[in-house]
Amino acid sequence: IVIPACGSAYYAGCAGKYTIEKLCRIPVTTELASELRYADPLIDGHTLLIVLSQSGETADTIAAIREAQSKGAYVLSIVNVVGSTIARISDDVIYTWAGPEIAVATTKGYTTQVSVLYLLALYLGEKRGCLSREEAAKLTDDLMILPQMVQRAIDLNPQIAQLAERYKNNPSLFFIGRNVDYAVCMEGSLKLKEISYIHSEAYAAGELKHGTISHIEPGIPVITVATQANVLAKTISNMEEVKARGGMIIAVCRKGTVFAENSVDLTLEIDADLDDMLVPLPTVCALQLIAYYTSVLRGIDPDKPRNLAKAVTTE
Ligand code: M6R
Repeated sequence: IVIPACGSAYYAGCAGKYTIEKLCRIPVTTELASELRYADPLIDGHTLLIVLSQSGETADTIAAIREAQSKGAYVLSIVNVVGSTIARISDDVIYTWAGPEIAVATTKGYTTQVSVLYLLALYLGEKRGCLSREEAAKLTDDLMILPQMVQRAIDLNPQIAQLAERYKNNPSLFFIGRNVDYAVCMEGSLKLKEISYIHSEAYAAGELKHGTISHIEPGIPVITVATQANVLAKTISNMEEVKARGGMIIAVCRKGTVFAENSVDLTLEIDADLDDMLVPLPTVCALQLIAYYTSVLRGIDPDKPRNLAKAVTTE
């Protein structure tokens, strides 16, 4: 499976990759459509292209589809805008039915794309015998309660507004996490830089010591996404490395996560009765709110960031 997309849709694909590989045991590569189109990709008649696009009109994504089709790939698109170009040129389409998305920064586009990838992974996992009916039923139940879990993340509003107040004037900020938490970090970082104009970078936590840690100095905010049990201890140790160099740690974690004394400055607890695999969805809503409040507190209109268009229909 190859997932080409741009911007947030690409990051939704990065999150979906973990779920599909875990539940279906099929190798997945996520590709920036603007790169894939010129890369002479290793795609053939055995490739399933899962295309993600809110608008269905992104020029680079359309070009990536054409390139893959010329090599014989089967194209399944996950698109929001009904009847859009991508929906029409694909072999199959699943609509996300998120309704019109007005703000330039995509929010429900991203969350619905990740939800559909999750559903697809559940379906394929069961069909391929990688997932028992009971396991699939349990994960489906989790999906059904997702709206309440997202609401709980949205209820963190006042806390997030206070948090944004603390770092709104910082010139730069980092996001770190591992595995699907890293995918969530990339989206959180894009949202923040897109609508607040603060420079921000997402880093796989284990990569810190390969470069970024030289940027950590007293007071620099580092949003650490630590929701996944299998990598929690590792992420915590990266967090402590940052803290030891004076970084300001904002931990976004599951409710009840215990950290060593003085290792965290602020905590944003995601209260979700969900399998770890689905926690990225409420978590990303909290990160979207971080971007929103930072933008508003800096006097920017979060719906209309400068220099950006809602649909990028030219190269
Ligand atoms: O319409 P698309 O999903 O194809 O758009 C892809 C990107 O241009 C889009 O996600 C962009 O990165 C957003 N402004 C992010 O908020």
